[in-house]
Amino acid sequence: MDKYIINGGKRLRGGVQISGAKNAAVAIIPATVLAGGPCVLENVPNINDVTIDLQILREMGADVRVLDKSTVRIDAKHIRDAVVPYEMARRMRASYYFLGTLLTKFNHAKVSMPGGCDLGDRPIDQHLKCFKSLSANYSIERGIVEISADKLIGSQIYFDKVTVGATINAMLASVKADGLTILENAAKEPHIVDLANFLNSLGADIMGAGTDVIKIRGVKAFSGANYTIIPDQIEAGTYMAAAAATKGDVTVNGIIPKHLEPITSKLRKIGAKVEEFDESIRVIGADRYERTNLKTMPHPGFPTDMQPQFAALLTLAKGTSILTEGVFDNRFRYVDELRRMGADVSVDGKVAVIEGVERLTGAPVKVADLRAGAALIIAGLSADGVTEIEGIHHIERGYEDMDLKLRELGADITKRRYTDGIRAAGE
Ligand code: UD1
Repeated sequence: MDKYIINGGKRLRGGVQISGAKNAAVAIIPATVLAGGPCVLENVPNINDVTIDLQILREMGADVRVLDKSTVRIDAKHIRDAVVPYEMARRMRASYYFLGTLLTKFNHAKVSMPGGCDLGDRPIDQHLKCFKSLSANYSIERGIVEISADKLIGSQIYFDKVTVGATINAMLASVKADGLTILENAAKEPHIVDLANFLNSLGADIMGAGTDVIKIRGVKAFSGANYTIIPDQIEAGTYMAAAAATKGDVTVNGIIPKHLEPITSKLRKIGAKVEEFDESIRVIGADRYERTNLKTMPHPGFPTDMQPQFAALLTLAKGTSILTEGVFDNRFRYVDELRRMGADVSVDGKVAVIEGVERLTGAPVKVADLRAGAALIIAGLSADGVTEIEGIHHIERGYEDMDLKLRELGADITKRRYTDGIRAAGE
């Protein structure tokens, strides 16, 4: 069980290069199954969720070559099997994108119910509704979702809820369907646009991605493509929050500032100085922040994936901040851990009330999910003393080299390897 050990209280300073977007990569990698030739993907983040995705493709028979740390060549023409290995699929939420791609490729798909972060109830009813609208049938037995269709036929689909995952699966399942598919009340996140751009580069005909109506005209033949994945807005936002929390001065590089507007504007509101450039943002922290309220919402609202990191930041603000979680049922599983560090936070349902304190103190804490882990790192960086963070495999699912990048910014953070509770030799 590996841990991060943080000796807090160091101001972060310097520049950090942001990696490719996790949530775009985990949609685009399964989408290579649809290509008519090899795909070369650049700016692929080197994170565990991507490793699992590539492993799934390999086990299904694809030729996957890692050309360098952030470039992968995938040739999926040898995939003959529409079944995703059970144990692999269970390890990550986005494995359900293979439902959409395999259904399109084989008119049949068999994938286990998805895993991923435990953020409360995460049904897949909207995914199933869209497969059904496209004339597929499904069954769920022993934890496996099986879908098949004689022929996929374009359809008009209205999502009852704005959902990233179902919007992506609907795109993946309709790109080769007969005729026109119209998705209404679609999600608008940057990774939806990125997936549409990738599919269009293969030859798909998708219009309107990034708005709430997406039109997809089925195209039969696709080519391969070379494609560069967008930068990760949540990784960038996490370093921005960490810079502010440590009263630091950090420039996040290689980003699209437009994707970070809700974060930039909140940081400015509480008193951080934020300077925007073409492909970077500089955050200069203040000694103490003003209180604020925030509510997470689908894009372009404040992203739920940044809520825990902002909670950590606001534990040290002046006065009472109120955070409302507008997307998931249970996204406050880091609060008990922040309390161990001296934070004053109470939770009632989807609302957290944070009474700002003067200081946090380091403590042993445990990570419950990916962004909760980022929040605990931010708290540890800004706390006095040593914070020991357990459960960092959650963090490594979605952040590339986080300890290394933080060390380059001046943080005192080390990764320690433990085997069954005993610290491994040489680490
Ligand atoms: C994706 C992101 C995740 C992010 C979330 C919201 C990936 C791999 N993960 O997750 O990082 O936090 O978007 O921006 O891209 N819902 C239903 N029925 C469905 C599907 C979803 O009720 O069939 C609900 C969910 O329970 C949740 C809300 O809709 O309350 C939004 O979920 P969704 O946007 O689908 O999130 P994910 O795609 O799982």
